[in-house]
Amino acid sequence: MAKSTVLILGASSDVGKSLAEYYYSKGYGLVLAARNTSLVEAYLSKWPDRNEVKLLSFDANEFSQHKEWFTNMGIVPDITICVFGYLGDQEKASRNWDECNRILISNYSGAVSILNVVAEVYRVKKKGVIAGISSVAGDRGRQSNYFYGSAKAGFTAYLSGLRNSLLSSGVHVLTVKPGFINTKMTAGLNLPKPLTAQPEQVAKAVYLGCKNRRNTIYVLPIWRLIMLVIKWIPEFIFKRLKL
Ligand SMILES: NC(=O)c1ccc[n+]([C@@H]2O[C@H](COP(=O)([O-])OP(=O)(O)OC[C@H]3O[C@@H](n4cnc5c(N)ncnc54)[C@H](OP(=O)(O)O)[C@@H]3O)[C@@H](O)[C@H]2O)c1
Repeated sequence: MAKSTVLILGASSDVGKSLAEYYYSKGYGLVLAARNTSLVEAYLSKWPDRNEVKLLSFDANEFSQHKEWFTNMGIVPDITICVFGYLGDQEKASRNWDECNRILISNYSGAVSILNVVAEVYRVKKKGVIAGISSVAGDRGRQSNYFYGSAKAGFTAYLSGLRNSLLSSGVHVLTVKPGFINTKMTAGLNLPKPLTAQPEQVAKAVYLGCKNRRNTIYVLPIWRLIMLVIKWIPEFIFKRLKL
């Protein structure tokens, strides 16, 4: 493998694919982990040179396997990026526990389970960077997506605590709040262009965020301002808004 290696958890996502391309272009070795590896194979087959790329099957739901899975990888990646997530169907989830639980696992408990394992290895090695793709949806609960939003809020709080806990070991944790991204997750939604990032922009922002040891980044800076305003709206007004 190359000098530095990045593990991408959720490599079949549009953001995961852009991250893989970006890090590869910067000379990193890649460990691409995805539930559906054939989706990753499909884009890898278009790459002229696949040296330094390892493809692994990974399911965030398989909590009991995560420790063994990471240990069996055979290398310790320098950077781990947790990208997987699931927007889900808010309406369906309010009536159907399986859908609700899938949202919670894919955005929170699955991420906590695997990152706990990674964090403990990095803590002992006193080295490593962890990045988590969270969401502005976690900054304040809204009626349109509070299952997804609350899971991302939990993930944001987890990453914050982990950063605090790992500082003295020299391990860094980056929280990424992308705003809207133009991916298959949002296909069919009418997203405002100026507020919507492309997956390539997210990849570059994550790369720079890890390199410069940033704590929390909003991929498009306008989102920091938007969320500041949203968080400041008094609750007696906020609860009446159709958001
Ligand atoms: N798109 C947006 O507007 C937006 C905004 C803010 C944050 N985000 C976050 O950005 C990240 C990337 O999203 P995206 O937009 O690139 O979405 P995407 O293309 O829909 O990708 C989601 C990925 O998560 C994977 N996944 C879901 N549950 C999993 C599980 N249990 N185990 C393993 N993998 C699982 C999916 O795997 P399969 O291919 O097997 O289904 C898929 O690769 C997510 O965390 C998302 O919440 C997205």
